[in-house]
Amino acid sequence: MISVNNVSLQFAARKLFSEVNIIFSPGNCYGLIGANGSGKSTFLKILSGEIDTTAGEVVVAPGKRISVLKQDQFAFDEFTVLTTVIMGHKKLYDIITEKDALYAKADFSNADGIRASELESEFSDLNGWDAESDAAKLLAALGIPDQFHTMPMKQLEGSAKVRVLLAQALYGNPDILLLDEPTNHLDEETCQWLQEFLIRFENTAIVVSHDRYFLDNICTHIADIDFGKIQLYSGNYTFWSESSQLALRQRSESNKKIEEKRKELQEFIARFRSNLSKAKQATSRKKILEKLTIEEIRPSSRKYPFVGFEQEREAGNDLLYINGLSKTIDGKVMFDKFDLAIHKGDKVALVGPNDQAKTVLFHILEGEIPPDSGSFKWGFSTKRMYYPKDNTKYFQSSLNIIDWLRQYSEDTSENFIRGYLGRMIFSGEESLKPVNVLSGGERVRCMLARMMLAKPNVLLMDDPTNHLDLESITALNKGLERFAGTILFSSHDHQLVQTVANRIVEITDKGWIDRAGMTFDDYLADERIKEQRQALYV
Ligand SMILES: Nc1ncnc2c1ncn2[C@@H]1O[C@H](COP(=O)(O)OP(=O)(O)OP(=O)(O)O)[C@@H](O)[C@H]1O
Ligand SMILES: [Mg+2]
Repeated sequence: MISVNNVSLQFAARKLFSEVNIIFSPGNCYGLIGANGSGKSTFLKILSGEIDTTAGEVVVAPGKRISVLKQDQFAFDEFTVLTTVIMGHKKLYDIITEKDALYAKADFSNADGIRASELESEFSDLNGWDAESDAAKLLAALGIPDQFHTMPMKQLEGSAKVRVLLAQALYGNPDILLLDEPTNHLDEETCQWLQEFLIRFENTAIVVSHDRYFLDNICTHIADIDFGKIQLYSGNYTFWSESSQLALRQRSESNKKIEEKRKELQEFIARFRSNLSKAKQATSRKKILEKLTIEEIRPSSRKYPFVGFEQEREAGNDLLYINGLSKTIDGKVMFDKFDLAIHKGDKVALVGPNDQAKTVLFHILEGEIPPDSGSFKWGFSTKRMYYPKDNTKYFQSSLNIIDWLRQYSEDTSENFIRGYLGRMIFSGEESLKPVNVLSGGERVRCMLARMMLAKPNVLLMDDPTNHLDLESITALNKGLERFAGTILFSSHDHQLVQTVANRIVEITDKGWIDRAGMTFDDYLADERIKEQRQALYV
């Protein structure tokens, strides 16, 4: 159990939390949700003790171990994969290192002997003998085969590192598990595996995610950050979202009779109650639903940013020719003799399970890395803007948001820049924050503002919805639908691909499929394409 007592936190620009009281109990999986910048990552850091509160305290039940999914992919570069996983259980890892150091001593004294026997007994209490095999099992389940286990982390490619860090967090059955956007860099299969893991997990899990489907599958409760408070609801994401919309509607129709409101609410709750499928959710949710009143459901204060791209000039018809492009990374073929011609107005979605191949293609087209062979040529009249999957390097700066954006603008007047930032829902004091403290989603909003300012006629976007809240995803989705130029993009957001793309390109190491004039759903349903896809994945 972990309890939060009267916690408040204030940053210079804003009060994030005031007097938050909440108790997280075992057996539950809490989905921590809230708009970009509302304080989810900060709250997890408060829970884990990484940052201090302005007032109030966090109390963890005695002897309980907290485990956190680490965000820094490079922090364990010098350790082997297996050691990195075991480091997830710090106490056990410390015992192992101290023990190893003792036994390695040339002059092993009596005192050392006593210490060694203490360590041995703690080691066996913590099931130390099984440490390596447990870690290996977890790694295997996450698709990291044996031959990688003894390699240093730095030799692994990004997606494998992410899975090792996930294994580290889950290792040794932690009492309290804190995961901040765990699905962001995960492939579909690992995502499924994590869902199963969390459904079966019997201790306390607190998970931040913007992925509605994921939240619906794993959560017994939703903790919503809004208005500087954290409100706990029993149920999954869909229940929370529908009930808060209902509350909003009912409030706006203020003269509607109380009795009518109550009836509507009761019907709504009854509908949800009949859908209680997962045993774990059923009991506690039922209890709360029975007591729920309309006053307890608060409408949300989420805001929509404005995303819209204008072209400074239209591009000519010939935009991009790719000829026989090949690239192999770490012995793995990304694509081989790949051809593609893109014309004005194409909105091309790059699909398929190999995310790395898509990212590598973007890197080549942006001139960041060379292909092994083949060539490509951008049309003379193209003006391109690129959204990279990893935007870290843009934000290693202490410029405030206004000055940061000014670097990318022709009109550098304060009024103009502030106007732009206002559309991206940064206002007043908020725009004076240094960019290196921005949350994941706030960074993406800044990147989008930068792209909009350039008035490009071609957009290259590598998974732009990562980190964004649902309001921002919706705004981006609309902006891309309206855009009259050309887009080459990849995305894990099914709806974005379905509504934006008019051409689908699937690249694999064995070849590619290219279908114009087709939506993603049609592509997936087409029998002939299904056969072709099967042939590419044997
Ligand atoms: N050191 C700091 N000084 C000032 N403001 C800060 C500092 N650290 C974070 N913030 C601000 O606090 C707010 C909360 O940040 P946090 O990273 O917790 O948001 P989040 O809810 O995780 O958002 P996202 O969904 O985008 O990841 C943001 O507006 C951020 O800019
Ligand atoms: Mg965050």
